[in-house]
Amino acid sequence: MELIHALRSNGAVRSFTDRPVDDATLHAVLDTARFAPSGGNRQPWRVAIVRDLDTRHEMGGLMRAVWEEYVGANATGVTAFAFGRSIDAPPIAAPNALLDEIETVPVVLAIAADLHHIAMMDGNLERPPVTGGASIYPFCWSILLAAREHGLGGVLTTFLSREEPAIAPRLGLPTDHALVATIFLGYPTHQNTKLTRHPVNSFATIDRFDGDSFDA
Ligand SMILES: Cc1cc2nc3c(=O)[nH]c(=O)nc-3n(C[C@H](O)[C@H](O)[C@H](O)COP(=O)(O)O)c2cc1C
Repeated sequence: MELIHALRSNGAVRSFTDRPVDDATLHAVLDTARFAPSGGNRQPWRVAIVRDLDTRHEMGGLMRAVWEEYVGANATGVTAFAFGRSIDAPPIAAPNALLDEIETVPVVLAIAADLHHIAMMDGNLERPPVTGGASIYPFCWSILLAAREHGLGGVLTTFLSREEPAIAPRLGLPTDHALVATIFLGYPTHQNTKLTRHPVNSFATIDRFDGDSFDA
């Protein structure tokens, strides 16, 4: 697939056919994703391919509670989990087809990052650090792009990261690793290629973040 087209049309896929993804295809996806950049080329990623149904069930239950907290927070109009904070809003039960089907989704990947191999360049500041994620999320995005080339679709999720301590024993997550994402993959029932995104002049400015909008 042409790169620009893929970059502009790789929408989240949360519904999959029951066609299995064979190991050779999944291996090829990971074998491409490993060329992602990371700070100092430390390649901090670890991937657990979660097949065990009890584990998936437990993951789904933990994710559902976070999902309902998220829906409840969104209903108040604030950005849910901004700065990592919970807000005092009641959870709202809402359907989530992805979680309902977690046991049958063709591929579930738990992605972890080895914190010894992440340079947290803004870890010294009085706000939550974010630069560490830049050493692991390009790898995650490369998984989704490489998957697309194989006719697969998927979605990166972070709801389980909020429950990392609860799921860590089941996944054998080392104490010095962070659970950064859960990625779902499969053959899409529908690939959304018409994505809604803000235009360049809404986020790019000249010289300063309060400078003139950049337009061409
Ligand atoms: C860092 C990150 C975290 C995300 N976490 C979740 C999540 O927990 N659950 C979920 O269903 N989708 C999650 N998503 C998917 C986003 O909802 C999706 O990328 C966004 O809404 C754009 O969707 P679109 O590409 O189909 O337009 C996450 C995406 C990113 C990049």
